[in-house]
Amino acid sequence: MLFRSDVSYIYVRQQQALGLGHAVLCARPVVGDEPFAVILADDLIDGRSSGCLQQMVELFQQYKCSLLGTERIDPTETEKYGIVSPDQEIADRVTSIDGTIEKPSPENAPSTLAVVGRYILTPGIFDFLENQEKGAGGEIQLTDAIARLLGEEQILAYQFDGVRYDCGSKLGYLQATVEYALRHPDLREPFGRYLQRYCSSTPTD
Ligand code: G1P
Repeated sequence: MLFRSDVSYIYVRQQQALGLGHAVLCARPVVGDEPFAVILADDLIDGRSSGCLQQMVELFQQYKCSLLGTERIDPTETEKYGIVSPDQEIADRVTSIDGTIEKPSPENAPSTLAVVGRYILTPGIFDFLENQEKGAGGEIQLTDAIARLLGEEQILAYQFDGVRYDCGSKLGYLQATVEYALRHPDLREPFGRYLQRYCSSTPTD
């Protein structure tokens, strides 16, 4: 992680593994009554035009409402994600939503638009998290509180411009490592040569 001298870092420990919604609630005393961003570190996003969160901050400045970073997924994978129910497309890549469901089966999924680890949320979410009941996997789900916040506020799904690496899976983590190494100015050449040598000398099956 890159530490910047112009930023204060405050750490809050989630004492019990009660779910993402609970983890976000633990940050309430630090965040206070301000809009805030949630970044799930296992979703590494290589933004194309600009960083994914930067894209979302610019949209927040325009729409002044909660935003969910989303991408299209394979219909068979809905059980791994929070899935949004899209309502109306209101701009390129921006859609209003009328529901969110945590990890639905493919038959119950309202779409194939999945929330992937980037959120900008208004502080209104905290009141819903305070009394959020356990949901999928027996955890306090951020997705469920977002669904309730929708009863009071507009929330937009944003299909970011970039590539996501699912670093919560071994394959995604390895793909990110290889691709970032092949772009690194010091590593590109020696690592590329190593990979070529390794792949040409090692049978894959
Ligand atoms: C969490 C969220 C889920 C979201 C996913 C993105 O799930 O609960 O809504 O789609 O991150 O990676 P987890 O991966 O922690 O099971």
